[in-house]
Amino acid sequence: MAGPGQKVVLITGCSSGIGLRMAVMLAKDEQRRYHVIATMRDLKRKDKLVEAAGDTYGKTLSLAVLDVCSDESVKQCVDSIKDRHVDVLINNAGIGLVGPVESIPIEEMKKVFETNVFGVIRMIKEVMPDMKKRRGGHIIVVSSVMGLQGVVFNDVYAASKFAMEGFCESLAVQLLKFDVTLSLIEPGPVHTEFEAKMIQEVRQRDCPGADPDTVHYFKNVYLPSSMDIFEVMGQTPDDIARCTKKVIEAANPRFRNLTNPMYTPIVALKYADETGGLSVHAFYHMLFNMGTLMHISMSVMKYLTCGCLRSRTISPN
Ligand SMILES: NC(=O)c1ccc[n+]([C@@H]2O[C@H](COP(=O)([O-])OP(=O)(O)OC[C@H]3O[C@@H](n4cnc5c(N)ncnc54)[C@H](OP(=O)(O)O)[C@@H]3O)[C@@H](O)[C@H]2O)c1
Repeated sequence: MAGPGQKVVLITGCSSGIGLRMAVMLAKDEQRRYHVIATMRDLKRKDKLVEAAGDTYGKTLSLAVLDVCSDESVKQCVDSIKDRHVDVLINNAGIGLVGPVESIPIEEMKKVFETNVFGVIRMIKEVMPDMKKRRGGHIIVVSSVMGLQGVVFNDVYAASKFAMEGFCESLAVQLLKFDVTLSLIEPGPVHTEFEAKMIQEVRQRDCPGADPDTVHYFKNVYLPSSMDIFEVMGQTPDDIARCTKKVIEAANPRFRNLTNPMYTPIVALKYADETGGLSVHAFYHMLFNMGTLMHISMSVMKYLTCGCLRSRTISPN
């Protein structure tokens, strides 16, 4: 239970990756300002978190079951918190999906929206009314650079993150009236199970329904270049956790928080040309005409920088 003066932080999807590191970093806060309720849909996956939490487990960090896709699970978890009082809600749980659209069953696409969109909305609907009543609270949504700029073969995942950006832009205005803050965290590539799951799944998939050219572009052009980008520019889950902690602790938290400064020009490109042609054509050339050049530059960058590009993190301040 939270001690006097401690903020109650509820985080979804803490079994791995970004959620796990956020939970541990906040629980280990030197001033013990937070009581973290680290949630996951299956407690059998708790070992990594418990180990990383060390002696904060049972003190500033507690565990709870929560599946963002289930009304009942979300309600049960929030009802189990004293006075249903949550100061900071971090919507982190999410799933990815890559591949040619024609090869992905609609049911799989719905799962992405059920988790990344309705999962977040379900959480907000459960926690927000109490925050509004109390005239205080902070809702954080882990979006993505792909919520601002679409990326080839990530059509459905990007659509789910775009949906959340639109939802949050709309809701943030109303919430200001109730002194509730809403912030988006927008990471670029991050080294987590997300990336590993994606690569493993893609290797196994034979893309039924997609023509051989599309499968070739996906597997032999997009995939190697995506792996290069992860390798050179990917941040660590700790980078994202640090950035999020700064957002929570800021006197005036920013609404948008791109965690990787390397992506700022890419997002700017989109707004530099209102016809949209500039970004569509730039991405086309980067992938299809300059793929080999990009691979070489990425490899050179990797060796020249000894991997230090990876760990660059922008502070929200
Ligand atoms: N990694 C990246 O490159 C990257 C970049 C930008 C944004 N993001 C975003 O960052 C967030 C965290 O991803 P990650 O990179 O840390 O990936 P990850 O290691 O795969 O973690 C995702 C977490 O979400 C949980 N989850 C999935 N479905 C859930 C559900 N229905 N209910 C509750 N939890 C559920 C997973 O739990 P299980 O263990 O039960 O599957 C896991 O704990 C996601 O929203 C993702 O879109 C990631």
